[in-house]
Amino acid sequence: MKAVTWQGRQDMQVIDVPDPVIEEPTDVIVQITSTGLCGSDLHLYDPLTPFMTDGDVVGHEPMGIVREVGSAVETLKAGDRVVVPFNISCGSCWMCDRGLFSQCETTQNRDSGTGASLFGYSKLYGQVPGGQAELLRVPFGDTLPIKVPDGPPDDRFLFLSDVLPTAWQAVEYADVEDGGTLAVIGAGPIGDMASRIAMHHGLDVIVVDNVPERLARVHGRGGRTIDHSQVDGVGDAIREMTDGRGADAVIDAVGMEAHGSPVAEAAQKALALLPKKVQEKMMLNVGSDRLAALMSAIDSVRRGGTISISGVYGAPTDPLPMFQLFDKQVQLRMGQANVRRWSDDILDLLMQDDDVLGVESFATHHLPLEDAPEAYRKFRDKEDGMVKVVFNP
Ligand SMILES: NC(=O)c1ccc[n+]([C@@H]2O[C@H](COP(=O)([O-])OP(=O)(O)OC[C@H]3O[C@@H](n4cnc5c(N)ncnc54)[C@H](O)[C@@H]3O)[C@@H](O)[C@H]2O)c1
Ligand SMILES: [Zn+2]
Ligand SMILES: [Zn+2]
Repeated sequence: MKAVTWQGRQDMQVIDVPDPVIEEPTDVIVQITSTGLCGSDLHLYDPLTPFMTDGDVVGHEPMGIVREVGSAVETLKAGDRVVVPFNISCGSCWMCDRGLFSQCETTQNRDSGTGASLFGYSKLYGQVPGGQAELLRVPFGDTLPIKVPDGPPDDRFLFLSDVLPTAWQAVEYADVEDGGTLAVIGAGPIGDMASRIAMHHGLDVIVVDNVPERLARVHGRGGRTIDHSQVDGVGDAIREMTDGRGADAVIDAVGMEAHGSPVAEAAQKALALLPKKVQEKMMLNVGSDRLAALMSAIDSVRRGGTISISGVYGAPTDPLPMFQLFDKQVQLRMGQANVRRWSDDILDLLMQDDDVLGVESFATHHLPLEDAPEAYRKFRDKEDGMVKVVFNP
């Protein structure tokens, strides 16, 4: 089958790899019909290079048609239409029972000290072959895949794999009271969708980014926007819009590659020149995330407010302004989305006729898998008005 593979720093290639096969009686094989390109894939493209291996199949936002089921699978059969969550959770352990699917104790990676395995997401998360491919082996066939009805186009359901539950969890964790103000740093797919969900809940939303077409999407759906390249300080701009107080909660929907952190950017570039073994060690011991977005969030949140982080951070020793966080009595909530915790609620909303979240027009590009190498570059560089890419293998 054809698959998008990592072949080196900033080098994705579509090549032929062996078809996946049923390995456990609970596995299913899914033929992928749509599969998203995510901001998280951009971390693999460059900063997480030390944890990648040549030939890794990437991608974690797939859906498609079940082609084969293992002998123990009872609820799915060939021909069923499913969306596959990005985190691999067993559905029955202590963590899964508590809705903390991204911390699943059956697939936790104890060697690397990380949570549940993820599809297509480096040695840190189990090195499981990913979903930007024609076929995907999916474990826990009875509990992991989300069965969806035939009929509506793929894009109605595809974002259940990641964008929707991630954005949903970000808004839940932000925990803004009715009518309150939520600031969202970053208007990529996650920030955009979080703002849609928050507006659907009736919140006042302010979104920060500096990419005009991304801000225009938010503005077009009724959100207030700030272009951070046009203001002196994001915190001051948000306070001006909130009676001088700051936002009740702020979602960081940017993560480790925020622009506007020159020192960390230089450190990341220097790291990339070192031998791979040394890179891996350095990456695990040295703080090299770019923290500009998180700093904006800390500055912009009101006293006693909440910061909800969905942007991914990877370095263990990032310096944080603990005095400011403590003094402002900030609540910090974060983590990989617990997809299966939210997916039933979201599916109910998606089944309504009027597409309240605008998922069917959410993707800006539908491309064949072969275009992946160019799409990764363009998505990173924000060319061609690219906000959300869906590959159709
Ligand atoms: N927690 C989870 O489960 C989960 C799931 C999916 C994605 N993510 C993470 O969410 C983040 C966003 O993902 P995405 O797909 O929207 O990616 P993206 O890279 O397209 O979006 C990031 C946006 O942030 C903007 N930005 C960069 N620096 C900024 C700054 N200093 N201030 C304001 N805006 C800034 C960029 O212009 C871009 O529009 C990534 O870190 C991704 O890894 C987390
Ligand atoms: Zn993703
Ligand atoms: Zn589990």
